[in-house]
Amino acid sequence: MRDILPPDTARWRALNAEFAATVERAGYGQISTPLIEDVGVFTRIGEATDVVTKELYAFEDRGGRHVSLRPELTASVCRAFAQHRPLTPWKVWYTGPNFRQEKAQRGRYRQFDQVGVEVLGVDDANLDVEVIALAAEFYARLGLQQITLVVYSLGEPEDRVRYVDALRDHFEQADLTEQSRATLAKNPLRVLDSKREQDAAAISAAPQISAFYSADAAAHFDAVTAGLTRLGLDFVVEPKLVRGLDYYRRTIFEFQGGTLDSAQNALGGGGRYDGLVEALGGPATPGIGFALGVDRTLLACDDEGVFHVAPRALDVFVVDVTGGLEAAAITAELRAAGLAADRGFDNRSMKAQMKLANRSGAAIAVIIGDDELMNDTAVLKPMARDRGDQRTVPRSELTSHLKDELS
Ligand code: HAM
Repeated sequence: MRDILPPDTARWRALNAEFAATVERAGYGQISTPLIEDVGVFTRIGEATDVVTKELYAFEDRGGRHVSLRPELTASVCRAFAQHRPLTPWKVWYTGPNFRQEKAQRGRYRQFDQVGVEVLGVDDANLDVEVIALAAEFYARLGLQQITLVVYSLGEPEDRVRYVDALRDHFEQADLTEQSRATLAKNPLRVLDSKREQDAAAISAAPQISAFYSADAAAHFDAVTAGLTRLGLDFVVEPKLVRGLDYYRRTIFEFQGGTLDSAQNALGGGGRYDGLVEALGGPATPGIGFALGVDRTLLACDDEGVFHVAPRALDVFVVDVTGGLEAAAITAELRAAGLAADRGFDNRSMKAQMKLANRSGAAIAVIIGDDELMNDTAVLKPMARDRGDQRTVPRSELTSHLKDELS
């Protein structure tokens, strides 16, 4: 877990604002759910996934309830849907921290932020296209170019049952590592995740789900790829695409960054999870969404040299060597007028306060000394040469002078 300090926080906020603007233009409303839920909400993500078996920050609270910090937001959103039963289509977006006990490295943290969307109640492949296109639009707005969109379909649950049987048969005959044998007993699909050399041959010879698609699943995926093509979005159909969560059905997708290590190159991903609301006690409801990792996305922006965000610069720094009360009045007046103003404290010397004014980055310093206080004036000192000379103005006209100067 790490701290995000100013000025980096300005960039985080700007990313959130850009995301909010992008998805709100498409009719999504913001949802905020608790950081902690009953652990049962998250076990629905998949009993055999690392996220659930190894990475949950689960604990018993003082009331003896089994709860967990959230590792993601999709399950929480579906829990909220089942609980509140809003009208469908329900289009929501979110932003916030998630917690997974992973081995931390560049791009992989134990607390990380996601922005994302979920839509409940729509089965139409056109929605899959909209959701994927929104994520792509967002990356484009950040200025990222080295992004690969990878898509695939996992078929319907019944297709998967037949496929998993075929996979199990295949892997049972194969020469797998001890670890993959253990995984096979729990979930043959997860064996495909193995990066171990000894497993590679069996994995590349494994059957593919596409051979087991029902007519509906095949038509749905065809409609998704046709829609993406119609929008001019480049994508790769990747049978080896493995999402780390078990609730997916039919469409899955991932956005991979070109500058990050392959283990952390997923900048975001998502897919359909048509059975999740039902598993959480709601009515059978189709759902689809994505979440983008904010930490990783910003690393990719660093690597590509895009999405520079300057924090709000100070307009004015007030130097008051008469005790500081005048600085209080002036900063309040300037802030009320919409200017960014800071000041020195502790009645420090003119020299010390001017040093602070310089360091603050403010465009103009306002100086109040004994003469100014007595004559009801203020000295206006531009901090950059191209802003003209120092001058004295009537105190009552200070704010309007500064507004003119800074507009
Ligand atoms: P996910 O693939 O587990 O999907 O996470 C989405 C993104 O969150 C990843 O692509 C990555 O950028 C970021 N992320 C995940 N774990 C970490 C970590 N430890 N450190 C830094 N970044 C991380 C989900 O969470 C699904 N809820 C997405 C979804 C929404 N599917 C449907 N709707």
